[in-house]
Amino acid sequence: MLSKRVQSLTPSAVMALGARAQKLKDQGVDVISMSLGEPTWDTPEAICSAGIQAIREGYTKYTPASGSQKLKEAIAANTQKWMGMTVTPSQVTVSIGAKFILFSAIQSLCDPGDEVLIPTPYWVSYPSMVELAQARLVPIPTQVDEDFKLKPDTLKKYITKKSKVLIVNSPNNPSGAVFSESEWKALSEVLMEYPQLYILSDDIYNHLYFSGPMAPHLLQVCPDLKDRVLSINAVSKNYSMPGWRVGWAVGNKEIIEAMSKFQSQSVSCASSISQEASAYALVQCDKELEETRQSLMKIKDLALASFQEIPKLDVFPPQGAFYLWVGVEKLYGSSWQKGTIRSASDFVEALFHEKSVLCVPGEEFNYPGYVRIHFAIDEARLMAACSRIKDFVSSLS
Ligand SMILES: Cc1ncc(COP(=O)(O)O)c(C=O)c1O
Repeated sequence: MLSKRVQSLTPSAVMALGARAQKLKDQGVDVISMSLGEPTWDTPEAICSAGIQAIREGYTKYTPASGSQKLKEAIAANTQKWMGMTVTPSQVTVSIGAKFILFSAIQSLCDPGDEVLIPTPYWVSYPSMVELAQARLVPIPTQVDEDFKLKPDTLKKYITKKSKVLIVNSPNNPSGAVFSESEWKALSEVLMEYPQLYILSDDIYNHLYFSGPMAPHLLQVCPDLKDRVLSINAVSKNYSMPGWRVGWAVGNKEIIEAMSKFQSQSVSCASSISQEASAYALVQCDKELEETRQSLMKIKDLALASFQEIPKLDVFPPQGAFYLWVGVEKLYGSSWQKGTIRSASDFVEALFHEKSVLCVPGEEFNYPGYVRIHFAIDEARLMAACSRIKDFVSSLS
């Protein structure tokens, strides 16, 4: 009865893990969930007020499929302010979160058989988007000793005549790795050689960066790529508004128009109320952005120092986002009461069973041997999680 397309789709593993944790919580178990990919702090009060005001002022109708003019102007102004790039609102399209924007971009760019290159580890949802476009996913492995970052020579080896799209994500979910300006520059030299390749730059964590207010961007070092790079962002992470569902792409007008057409025939527009609140956030909330970044950095320092003390875990110091990327291979072969750990998934399962701490196995990000731990939770819970993990590791034989 069901279509082959839908039958072959795998549901979001992270969401499934979250639901599992919630079920146990509802039964009264003291679960510490470090699996979900959303900020734990609330949307800033001023942004909530802007949303409420939008309802009262009657912003309750459809907007254009590409977003309200006000929000597109705010995004264009922000692109100028943060990236130094002049764009017009006609080069912006808005839709339901970065996820649907990425979906729309891949649908608009890829024909069946086209190759979509994605360095591993990568966000769990990219593969299904590629599959639904009947394109071919080409994972490009990255190395621990290269800080999980794509190297120009490696990229070159994977580009073929069929390569259509490269997805880059910096700060990266799950590793927290960030490309420096010089690393972008080196990559851009390869990208300039392949004019058929379009680049989806998933910038969703770009203000959650630990060395400045915004992570370096490919287009800042290589503006010549501007017709082939779509800069994709959202209010979800930076402004802690994941449930408001507003994301956007900025770039080549022809692609933006195609995406807007796709959006108009699938989801119409993002919520008019959320768009008003998002425009307010982009224009008025630099202070809140900076406060978030500062508190995130404090909790990151604490998380990093505490997890680095746990023997046999290899903790990669993140440069942005809110995840610790932790190698667990040194525990392979260790036994717990119900079995032996032979994979990151085994580790996650055993830890959850024994200590009710939930994280995400690297297999979900196409990178075995690692687990992703969401560290931006309440400080006391973070410390409790850390001590439970320490106990668990020392209980293994
Ligand atoms: C790397 C990355 N891109 C995109 C998204 C989707 O964001 P949104 O909630 O705006 O759809 C996420 C959310 O987890 C993400 O981690």
